Amino acid sequence: MFLTDEAPMRARAIDPAFRHDILDGLSRNPKATPPLWFYDRRGSELFEAITDLPEYYPTRTETALLKAHGPDFAAAVGQGRAVVEFGAGSARKTPHLLRAIVPAAYVPIDISGDFLHASSAALAQAFPDLPVLPLVGDFNRPLDLPAAIEGLPRLGFFPGSTIGNMEPDAAVDLLRAMRRLLGKDAMLLIGMDRIKDRDRLVAAYDDAAGVTAAFNLNLIERINRELEGDLPIDGFAHRAIWNDQKARIEMHLEAVRPLHFHVAGQCFRMDAGETIHTESSHKYGPRDERLLLRAGGWEPVREWTDEGGLFTLVLAEAG
Ligand code: AVJ
Repeated sequence: MFLTDEAPMRARAIDPAFRHDILDGLSRNPKATPPLWFYDRRGSELFEAITDLPEYYPTRTETALLKAHGPDFAAAVGQGRAVVEFGAGSARKTPHLLRAIVPAAYVPIDISGDFLHASSAALAQAFPDLPVLPLVGDFNRPLDLPAAIEGLPRLGFFPGSTIGNMEPDAAVDLLRAMRRLLGKDAMLLIGMDRIKDRDRLVAAYDDAAGVTAAFNLNLIERINRELEGDLPIDGFAHRAIWNDQKARIEMHLEAVRPLHFHVAGQCFRMDAGETIHTESSHKYGPRDERLLLRAGGWEPVREWTDEGGLFTLVLAEAG
């Protein structure tokens, strides 16, 4: 590789996986793109802002559960496990868990390397005796855990209702992959968002301040920036709808007029009112969540739910 004065000016190399997923998603009918591409630096920041919104109850409800039930976790999980967090992001909830259970190591996994390294450094400082071993990667693909945690019993931590992003069949596949990765005697602490009042759900994904709209529209900006796209930002509107049949919130980017644009040299067109389905966020009832875990090879042993029944943390053991 040549390092010249111009090097920093050059466009970054195209990420082939991003390019593939977007071209494939825009070629489908209906158009649909995987949500993992929301989380570039800006997208991760916008998601953090979402978690502070008055309408977005999941993060604050789950954090309160983690804070309130530390002694329960300690009793149910025991000390000395390696905690493996899937999709750690800013890992703002994790300190509550780590303080409660005194683990032997912490392995945060996230797709966004910048973000992961910043949050891992902060965590390592707050827990000076805890080995923090960040792993940059997509937890939907095969991964190798650090050799340093070999032989330690594992606790998978999958908070935030991230599992809700997956179609049920993919959710089961992922739970099974986690079961394989974490090994026998493993436990899993997973956050799941409950089915509830429709208006409450829609408001959580279509907030008054427009932060979720900005988060959704950032995908368009990312495509333009990283994939030589020319999508008109003002040609799209954020939509959040409750799909009752599938028990999920769907986010879409709706064309507000007929559109014609390019991505990585390919042409696309959209009719007015046509959408790109950018995310699904599945919600689960109490029995649904247990059934999903069992289908994925995990036996639920305890669960903690807030008084309002908004959100649940389920602890399960490898079946
Ligand atoms: C990070 C997938 C759990 O589905 O609630 C928040 C992402 N999207 N607002 C969710 C999200 C729009 C979030 N998850």
